[in-house]
Amino acid sequence: MAWPLSCTLSLFTLILLQSTPSPVTAQNSSNISVGRSLTAINGSSWLSPLGDFAFGFHQLPNKANLFLFAIWYAKIPDPIVWHANDGNPVPQGSSVKITADTGLVLTDPQGNNLWNTSNELRVDGGRVSYGFMNDTGNFALKGSSNSIPVWQSFDHPTDTLLPGQSLDIDGMINSRLSETNYTMGRFQYHLTTDGNMELSTRDISTGYTYSGYYISDAANPGQTQRYVYNESGYMYILRKNGSMYNMLPDGYTPTEDQHQRLVLSSDGILIWYSSSKISISDGWSRFQVAPENICKELAVRAAQNLGVGVCGSNSMCILGDNNKHTCTCPQGYSLTDPNVQYDGCKPDFNLVDCEDYAERTMKGEYSIVQILNTDFNFNDYERVDSRNEDDCKNSCLKDCFCAGASFELSGKDVGCWKKKAPLLNGVTDGFIGRNFWLKVRNVNKSNDPLNPNVTFPPMTRKSKMTTPTKVLLGGSVSVNLLLLLAIGFGVFFIYHKNQLKESNESQRKTLSEYNHVHYFNYQELNEATNGFKEELGRGAFGVVYKGMVNGGGPSICVAVKKLDRISADTDKEFKTEVNVIGQTHHKNLVQLVGFCKEGDQRLLVYEYMSNGSLADYLFGDTRPSWIDRVQIAQGTVTGLLYLHEECSTQIIHCDIKPQNILLDEYHIARISDFGLAKLLVLNQTHTNTGIRGTKGYVAPEWFRNKPITVKVDVYSFGVLLLEIICCQKSVRIVEENAEILTDWTFDCYRSDKLDQLVNDDMEALKDMIRLKRFVMVALWCIQEDPSLRPTMRTVTQMLAGLAEVPNNPPCSTSFSVTIQN
Ligand SMILES: *[C@@H]1O[C@H](CO)[C@@H](O)[C@H](O)[C@H]1NC(C)=O
Ligand SMILES: *[C@@H]1O[C@H](CO)[C@@H](O)[C@H](O)[C@H]1NC(C)=O
Ligand SMILES: *[C@@H]1O[C@H](CO)[C@@H](O)[C@H](O)[C@H]1NC(C)=O
Ligand SMILES: *[C@@H]1O[C@H](CO)[C@@H](O)[C@H](O)[C@H]1NC(C)=O
Ligand SMILES: *[C@@H]1O[C@H](CO)[C@@H](O)[C@H](O)[C@H]1NC(C)=O
Ligand SMILES: *[C@@H]1O[C@H](CO)[C@@H](O)[C@H](O)[C@H]1NC(C)=O
Ligand SMILES: *[C@@H]1O[C@H](CO)[C@@H](O)[C@H](O)[C@H]1NC(C)=O
Repeated sequence: MAWPLSCTLSLFTLILLQSTPSPVTAQNSSNISVGRSLTAINGSSWLSPLGDFAFGFHQLPNKANLFLFAIWYAKIPDPIVWHANDGNPVPQGSSVKITADTGLVLTDPQGNNLWNTSNELRVDGGRVSYGFMNDTGNFALKGSSNSIPVWQSFDHPTDTLLPGQSLDIDGMINSRLSETNYTMGRFQYHLTTDGNMELSTRDISTGYTYSGYYISDAANPGQTQRYVYNESGYMYILRKNGSMYNMLPDGYTPTEDQHQRLVLSSDGILIWYSSSKISISDGWSRFQVAPENICKELAVRAAQNLGVGVCGSNSMCILGDNNKHTCTCPQGYSLTDPNVQYDGCKPDFNLVDCEDYAERTMKGEYSIVQILNTDFNFNDYERVDSRNEDDCKNSCLKDCFCAGASFELSGKDVGCWKKKAPLLNGVTDGFIGRNFWLKVRNVNKSNDPLNPNVTFPPMTRKSKMTTPTKVLLGGSVSVNLLLLLAIGFGVFFIYHKNQLKESNESQRKTLSEYNHVHYFNYQELNEATNGFKEELGRGAFGVVYKGMVNGGGPSICVAVKKLDRISADTDKEFKTEVNVIGQTHHKNLVQLVGFCKEGDQRLLVYEYMSNGSLADYLFGDTRPSWIDRVQIAQGTVTGLLYLHEECSTQIIHCDIKPQNILLDEYHIARISDFGLAKLLVLNQTHTNTGIRGTKGYVAPEWFRNKPITVKVDVYSFGVLLLEIICCQKSVRIVEENAEILTDWTFDCYRSDKLDQLVNDDMEALKDMIRLKRFVMVALWCIQEDPSLRPTMRTVTQMLAGLAEVPNNPPCSTSFSVTIQN
């Protein structure tokens, strides 16, 4: 028994939110002779004889022009089991060739070498004569002798082990950086010289490895040969005397009729997946091998050998669903690098500032707040022997070096433990009887010109930038775009602050109520848009103008929305909504950058989306490619799922339609106008009759006095999905008759004539399984009875092919009555 006893065998179906286009140009081939090549286009690949595995270019989700040179399961959605080029994707038009001397050679579209196997070839295997994609998932280059491969992917594992693969001493697999970034990440699983399998963290920049947070019980120095995952699925450590140390879960016997793999996830968890070969649609089952609680294991380990835990300084590790951990910053702190969750947090104020500290503390500049269920371990510099919690809090507050204190009334760590900065190894996990008190600075900086009382949008925050002033004084030029943006806003803001007049005093007070977005005054936006000159579009809420924000830094292109249907008495709601909208951050949403509220004027400032709206894209002169459309549908659904389930305040969009889906420079779908429906609804006297939304996309319950739920968005998404599939508007007039897309689709579906929907789109027709799946999902979404419609989460899974789409969606009687709006 090698696996932890406490490790319960809980198998559950893995939910994979991303999906991948199936290879369009896959070729079944056994021997791939020297001289053959593949070009990175449409996911081209060579398949193994039974078609289980594909070797070639795997298109990255949401990245139409980037491909990973990889091996993946060709029949089951997604998982990549091996990748080349250190996980760096290559552009469309790159190619790979099999050569006799160098083996595999990957080149960019200009023919420059990107990666090759020249240094990895086994001399005793001879010159390469052909390649072979085996049904085991191993790609081998064979020489003429045909015995030992000259090179094989199994000898160069990435983050996955497959049956048939083994690791020598010091051999390892490395996690990738994130779900979507395949470059080497922070965790590794390796066979140590003393014969243990060990999970450990590594420092990404230096490659230094810290000691393990999970270690098997198999140490047998000098006697260990290798770690074996044999073709029947047995896992063991093989000893020199031929004995085996079992690494399989207790009581588990592998079977031949399943695909299986062992993966070190990007969050440092070792997971064993299996999937029946017979019913592939069941998807993957997941079993967590180790560790049990990565937050706690790592906090303990890190404290022993000076690592910074799993989350970095000042950050708190929280275990969530599927034992995935997240790192969060405590109140008054924010991510050092807003794009990297585990790089730690920085205080939003100068923490150790002992100048006039006592005096400033007296005036109430700092306070002590409780952080529930959390402790930061092993960073105490003083223990105050007090059983009085208030004494503990005061002691920390009065001490300019104290960052926080942990107080325990009874137990072995009784007393008040003062912690110095930075706080380390933070774990949030029900510490009973222990309270953590954190020092924060009170936000009353209205008379401190160096500290604007509106914080920057989180997306522009950058490490080493505690205040905008610092950046200005530093005057660094070689900073990346994000920092430039931040400086831009910073300069802009300070400039703006100095211009504030007495009369704006009351205005200023209210600003601190907005936490995450930037405040603009009307004059600034008037100038930014050149007097509201260039109109980008008109919607239910008013007109959108293009603008340039330029405050000393580089100009940033923005879209300024002038709200014209919001009256002044929705003042409070406006604040609430701006806050809610400002706190949403997702790659499939248009980001709110700032706002203006002056007199009757209400304006919102958004990121500018260079590729216009989905409506123009879908219904324009040229039909977008099928793959593009598939990705846009998946992007939209991911954004909606976030609005419905993942942001702190649930947001029902109420007006999903192609005009409200914008495309950024990479043609990624970004939902706009979310969060605004509520304002309009609030603004209407008869809420239940105030129909939001747009003709053709509105769910029936709007007309029926039924409660409005997230299912209205599901309905509108269904209509949108049909439009994306067919490249046709939901309602179109053909010879004076209105042709309703939903009815027509249902007829085509029922009479099995899906080809008519896509009108000779060969790409879509070749992808018939997906096409049918998409149509069925759409038909379920537009069910009249909201309870029959799937949730956005289910829609996501069904579109990705990870959940079964129930057969025979009932006909949703067309209620396409004229809508009086
Ligand atoms: C592949 O090449 C090997 C070695 O040349 C040969 O023995 C085998 O028959 C070939 N297989 C096919 C299907 O051509
Ligand atoms: C690949 O995609 C391009 C552009 O969408 C298309 O012209 C071409 O026919 C496709 N190739 C194959 C083999 O499907
Ligand atoms: C193979 O890659 C190495 C660098 O890793 C490079 O120096 C060499 O030129 C490449 N060989 C070919 C044939 O491109
Ligand atoms: C494929 O893998 C199996 C199992 O390792 C091996 O027996 C077989 O020889 C391989 N096929 C080729 C053509 O290398
Ligand atoms: C992956 O992450 C690395 C390191 O942050 C970065 O340099 C690289 O561009 C990322 N790759 C992709 C495809 O995002
Ligand atoms: C894998 O190991 C098990 C247990 O030692 C053994 O029974 C089985 O025959 C092995 N399978 C292969 C293909 O070597
Ligand atoms: C903020 O500071 C000013 C000046 O020091 C003071 O008059 C005011 O009462 C403070 N406001 C709060 C809410 O502490």
